[in-house]
Amino acid sequence: MDQIRIKGGIPLKGKIHISGAKNAALPLMAASLLTKEVLTLKNLPHLADIMTMSSLLIQHGVKITMTDDGVGTLRFDSSKIFNLKAPYDIVRKMRASVLVLGPLVARYGKAKVSLPGGCAIGTRPVDIHLFALEKMGAKIEIKEGYIIAKTENGYLTGCDITFPKVTVGGTENILMAATLAKGQTVLRNAACEPEITDLAECLVKMGADISGIGTNTLVINGRDSLHSATHKVVSDRIEAASYAIAAAITRGKIEIVDADLKNLTAVARVLTECGVSLNETECGFIADAENAFLIGTDVMTEPYPGFPTDVQAQLTALLATASGASLITETIFENRFMHVPELARMGANINVHGPSSAIVRGVKSLSGAEVMATDLRASMCLVLAGLFAEGETTINRVYHLDRGYENLEEKLSACGAFIERIARN
Ligand code: EPZ
Repeated sequence: MDQIRIKGGIPLKGKIHISGAKNAALPLMAASLLTKEVLTLKNLPHLADIMTMSSLLIQHGVKITMTDDGVGTLRFDSSKIFNLKAPYDIVRKMRASVLVLGPLVARYGKAKVSLPGGCAIGTRPVDIHLFALEKMGAKIEIKEGYIIAKTENGYLTGCDITFPKVTVGGTENILMAATLAKGQTVLRNAACEPEITDLAECLVKMGADISGIGTNTLVINGRDSLHSATHKVVSDRIEAASYAIAAAITRGKIEIVDADLKNLTAVARVLTECGVSLNETECGFIADAENAFLIGTDVMTEPYPGFPTDVQAQLTALLATASGASLITETIFENRFMHVPELARMGANINVHGPSSAIVRGVKSLSGAEVMATDLRASMCLVLAGLFAEGETTINRVYHLDRGYENLEEKLSACGAFIERIARN
């Protein structure tokens, strides 16, 4: 398995272009199942998870064609779907595979999708997706590890749904399902992450009738069918935040291009509190920590527009190097401090209290070490710590990074980082 080797201590300077958001791209790809016409998606990042979603769609019968326009464009033709089953072998690799459930049941009245199973950051059940589909008239059975969903008359029926907990995937699945349901669906306590707004905007281009986009209440009037559309995937706010933290932790200055600071309000507030200066530019922002004296701060993860759980690990690395103490409270996932023991091996002073809080006491230096990551954002946290640390850091299990950071080594090297991939068989 490949490793990443970093020699730390270099303040990063330069420009980084942000890719299309993985977490927007995956539901958008699933949305192609809602229509027999072609959905064209631009700005898709070249990532392992996109390949996994492509294999899943292909085995359902979706024809995917690539255009060589250099901007990551794929065309999805779902006119000949011949298989309504999402097999365990693919779903176990990527939980977002469950996003085909809503579209398949909405268009074909039935689907069989493997239950995703456990995950490194938490149990992550899909009970709320199922509860909502049941409310829309689907009969759900769990058999031999599969969700078997069927509707009596071949279609879902709109209704009023209040999500008992804010769920990104649940909102996406049911939003997609509701676009083809009979009648009106109201989704209350819906997640309103920018990736959901992006999905809703694409669905509207496909002919869906959705109001309340960007809010916690979505109202969808079901249509008989959706049609072809072309949509550009929103830029990845988590990637942008990660590189802003790269500038901060190395006390450097990076221009983050093709990013929208408006989608990063909570991250910007926290970084500013720490002493990082962030200035909006025409197509992004500059994160500047040159000559900054960084101080700790308290942060709690929350659904959007709160501080994203997907930036918690990266911020932990930064706070580990800032002066003073910080309290981090994780409220979304019950096991998202797996990066802490690895940071401790590099010299960080962090105490985890129970499943949801960690006290970080900043240290002046970290030392490079061989470390291992358990998930995507934890891996990025170790890359960031490695960029700050004295000496050499080797990160194992690079496949996690390949799921969510396009051209990571190239982007960081262009800003002066010493980072290389060591291929291992
Ligand atoms: C999405 O996961 C993201 N994944 C995650 O990004 C992100 O961390 C998460 O939202 C929260 O922002 C994609 O978009 C592909 P949830 P999702 O449903 O949809 C509980 C990354 O690193 N829950 O909002 O699976 C759940 O266990 C990843 O890019 C239920 O209890 O997250 C969690 O505690 C990792 N029942 C909370 O809700 C349900 O039916 C939020 O999960 C559904 C969720």
